[in-house]
Order: sequence, then C-alpha cells, then structure tokens
Amino acid sequence: MKTAFIATFPWLSSIAAAGLLRETVSRDAALPQLRGAFRDVVSTHAIPMRKHKLAPSTIHPALHRRANVPARLKNIYDVYYSIDLVVGNQTVAVSVDTGSSDTWMVQEPYECVSFWFEPGGSTPNCGLGSGFKGALSGGTLPDLPPFVRSYVDGTFVSGFYGQEDVTIGGITAHNQRLALVNYTYWHGDGQTSGLLGLAYPYLTSLDGSDQNQPPYDPVFTTMWRSGAIDPVFSIALSRSEDQGNQTGSGPSSGQKESYLALGGLPPVDVDEQTWARTPIHSMKAVPQWGFETDERGMYIIKPDAFVVAKAGNGSDPDVELVRNTTQIPVLIDNLWIILTHSTGLVNQLYAAFDPPAKYMSTGGLFYALCNATVPKFGVQIGDSTFYMAPEDLLRQTARDPTKEWCRIGITDTDSPPHVLGVSFLTNVVSVFDVGNSEMRFAARKKY
Ligand SMILES: *[C@@H]1O[C@H](CO)[C@@H](O)[C@H](O)[C@H]1NC(C)=O
Ligand SMILES: *[C@@H]1O[C@H](CO)[C@@H](O)[C@H](O)[C@H]1NC(C)=O
Ligand SMILES: *[C@@H]1O[C@H](CO)[C@@H](O)[C@H](O)[C@H]1NC(C)=O
Ligand SMILES: *[C@@H]1O[C@H](CO)[C@@H](O)[C@H](O)[C@H]1NC(C)=O
Ligand SMILES: *[C@@H]1O[C@H](CO)[C@@H](O)[C@H](O)[C@H]1NC(C)=O
Ligand SMILES: *[C@@H]1O[C@H](CO)[C@@H](O)[C@H](O)[C@H]1NC(C)=O
Repeated sequence: MKTAFIATFPWLSSIAAAGLLRETVSRDAALPQLRGAFRDVVSTHAIPMRKHKLAPSTIHPALHRRANVPARLKNIYDVYYSIDLVVGNQTVAVSVDTGSSDTWMVQEPYECVSFWFEPGGSTPNCGLGSGFKGALSGGTLPDLPPFVRSYVDGTFVSGFYGQEDVTIGGITAHNQRLALVNYTYWHGDGQTSGLLGLAYPYLTSLDGSDQNQPPYDPVFTTMWRSGAIDPVFSIALSRSEDQGNQTGSGPSSGQKESYLALGGLPPVDVDEQTWARTPIHSMKAVPQWGFETDERGMYIIKPDAFVVAKAGNGSDPDVELVRNTTQIPVLIDNLWIILTHSTGLVNQLYAAFDPPAKYMSTGGLFYALCNATVPKFGVQIGDSTFYMAPEDLLRQTARDPTKEWCRIGITDTDSPPHVLGVSFLTNVVSVFDVGNSEMRFAARKKY
C-alpha cells in the first residue's frame, strides 16, 4: 500500500481538532439503490494487470522512526499490479493503488534522492521505469501548491500538478488533473513510473501545509462523472506471476490473469452463490484517525466476522476454533501484500498452525514450517465466509534463509487500520461500487 497515511501521522487529528474538515456532501440519495439481484455485468473495459514481485527490501531503521512504521511491518511492499496509462500520447506504466487517490508519474529527467547517508556514496536507485517526457498538453496548474506526498513506508514524491487526457482500456478522463514528479525517494519495481490512485476525491484534499486543499476529481471519478462508465470498478488479483497482456480485453488466457475492470466485472469465474455486499464507511469509521467527516476517502468496510478453523479432511468437517463478530473497520488495499489484524485474533491463528507459527526476528514477521498443517482463516461478509487459500496463508515462495520456514500471510498490529491486502484479495473478486457506497465480493473459482 502506498496509502497516504493517516493513523501514524498526527496532522490528521490536528485537522479534525481545528475543525477544518469540509462539509459533507452525500450523493447517495440521488443514486439508484440495489435491492436483491446484483446487476453487475462483465465490463467491456477489463484491463489485464501485470503482477511484479520485488525482492523484499529492508526499510532503513531511521525510517521506522520517522514514519512510525511498526518494525514488524517491513518487507511488505513486495507486490505490484500494474497497468499502462496513456497520458496524452505517451504510454506510462503505473501501479494500481486502491488506497490512495492521486495519479502521478515521474517526469524525465527527475531527481532520485536517498533519505539517509549511503555509505560509500552509492547512487540512490528509486526503481522507477521510464517516465513522462516533455510537457502536458493541458499545461501545469500554476496556482496550486506543489504536489507532495509521503507514504507510510517512508517514501515520498514531490512535483507539480498539470492537466492531460488520461486513457485506460479505451476510457478517457479528459483534461485530468494529475501530478508530475521530479524529486523523489522511491522503492519501485523497476518497471512502473508512478501510481494510479483509485480511492475517493476526499483524500486529495489532505495536501499542502495545512492538509486542507480543495479536493479534485481523481481519474476514476472523472470517468464516471462524465458518463463514460457506471460509478463502479472491480479488481481480480492473480496469485501467480502471469504477466498479463495489455492488448486483449475480455476473457483471454484464462483464470491466471489479474484485472482492473472499469464500470463492471472482470472476466473471471466466480462462485455466484457467494456474492455478498457491505457498506463502504466514511473516514470517521476509524476513530483513531480523528476525522469527524462523513465523507468517504478510502475503501473501509466492516466485515461481519473473522473465523479461524481447523481444516477438515474429507471424512471430518472443519472445526471452528474462533468466530469473532466484533465489527472492526478494515481497508481494502491492494498494495499491502499481507492482511493485518489485532494481536488477539492473529495469535489465535498462529496457534492453530501445527506446529504453531513463531516470530522470527531475522524476517521480522511470523513464520511457520513450510510443511506445517495450515488452519483456515475466513472473513465473513453478509452470509458468505471467504476463506483464504492455504498458499496465501502460508506463503511457500516467501521463505526464511534456512528455506524451512515460510511467511504467514497475516500479521498482527493493534494500531489501526487493519487491512485486507493481496493475500485476501487473491481469493475473491472485489467490486468497488462507489455509486451505491458498497463493496461486493464473490469467491473466485479455484485457479
Ligand atoms: C505528442 O503530443 C505533444 C504535445 O501534446 C506533441 O507536441 C507531439 O507532437 C505529439 N507526438 C506525437 C508522436 O504525436
Ligand atoms: C520540479 O518542478 C518544479 C515546478 O516546475 C520546479 O519548481 C522545481 O525546481 C523542480 N525540481 C527539480 C528537482 O527539478
Ligand atoms: C496478448 O493477447 C493478444 C490477443 O489475445 C495476442 O494476440 C498477443 O500475442 C498477446 N501478447 C502477448 C505478449 O502475450
Ligand atoms: C482426518 O482427521 C482425523 C482427526 O484429525 C483422523 O482421525 C482421520 O484419520 C483423518 N482422515 C483422513 C482421511 O485423513
Ligand atoms: C474480537 O476482536 C476484537 C477486536 O479485534 C477484540 O477486541 C476482542 O477481544 C476479540 N474477542 C474475542 C472473544 O477474542
Ligand atoms: C517438516 O519440515 C521440517 C524441516 O524442514 C522437518 O524437520 C520435518 O521432518 C518435516 N515434517 C514432516 C512431517 O514432513
């Protein structure tokens, strides 16, 4: 996740305290409400996403202090799902991020800086692909403050705003406000050059010295407000490293691909019986953030329960060990690889591995023997419980140096927000229905 965060940054509560939050605007009443049947159809604008894996990096200790990143949360930003944006007449690869709202890319030439003293004076490497070249046809937006964002993993970008047509999968956001970055500390995958932020306009207002700029419409908002698509998008994230294919749209090389679908569903098979819906909550749903606004900013839902079970085996059914029905707010965020939850629940899960999982200081996260018996972990939404596949719960590809211990796909943190990241999202199709202020999920068929 590159979410511009929040829980860790005291300025947010100071905004709320100063009463600087804007009036709530509720559009919900004007929009048709779904009752009963789901009207989702497969989108003709389903864009395959490429999945890139990054060698896990270590965040410098200084950054842990600076950004208040819990030490255990290092090494989590190791998966990127990317698409091509057409910006004016240039194609720029960016990472898709449901946890932030700005769309930005580097402009060539840009300056990559290191955040701390590099022994030996090595040249910093931001891991960015080739950026936008030349000028935006809509020019720069001169009366705005500079574009500056800091992300929870200690990275930052800075640059300026401009306007240009932005096209994704045949849908164009005309005269879209976006940011070009010319000064950054970044930890990228070497292929993408920026981010496509898919969250709400509200987050764009948390900018400038008082973090209270007028919000603007992000790319997805511009697209649906112009009537080009319905106000909904959905994602299917592949577990495999299939590279995706930008040229095809619609069902192509099968179930392994990842998709961003604008205006409808991605072309992947789901278990239709499992469709479930739940409201998207406003920023004040996370009390620790100190917001008093009813505005929605990120995709925050409150699952009905979290379940830990001992897996059955053909003759014996599953044995439910825990069903915690406390409704806590969680973010749906595709740039977190793992899922985070409260220590109590996660310890119950770790104990249910056989042999039990343990904390390994070398990896900074919990690991279990790669051949351990894996329990089941499920998230209940409505009447459906979505279980994570064993390979997402115990990640066979993320091993400690002995190669005998595998990383667990869920980690604990008692400081919100809790997150449903890639290790959960690979198991479902997620529909972000902004028009109806709800999310829908269905279990993906085994792939
Ligand atoms: C791309 O757009 C820029 C500015 O809008 C223009 O100057 C340039 O000629 C265009 N290039 C091509 C290959 O169309
Ligand atoms: C980045 O762009 C802004 C706006 O054009 C400019 O003021 C600034 O000097 C540039 N910074 C770098 C490092 O090029
Ligand atoms: C992408 O898909 C299209 C049509 O489905 C196909 O013609 C093309 O060869 C594929 N490209 C790659 C790189 O797989
Ligand atoms: C299933 O598990 C039970 C108890 O854990 C065990 O007694 C039984 O033999 C197992 N059955 C199979 C088919 O593995
Ligand atoms: C359920 O989860 C909540 C929040 O994570 C926690 O405070 C509570 O203690 C848990 N309840 C049980 C019975 O474990
Ligand atoms: C599981 O793996 C560990 C370490 O690699 C090994 O010592 C143990 O014998 C294995 N257990 C089983 C049941 O295969």
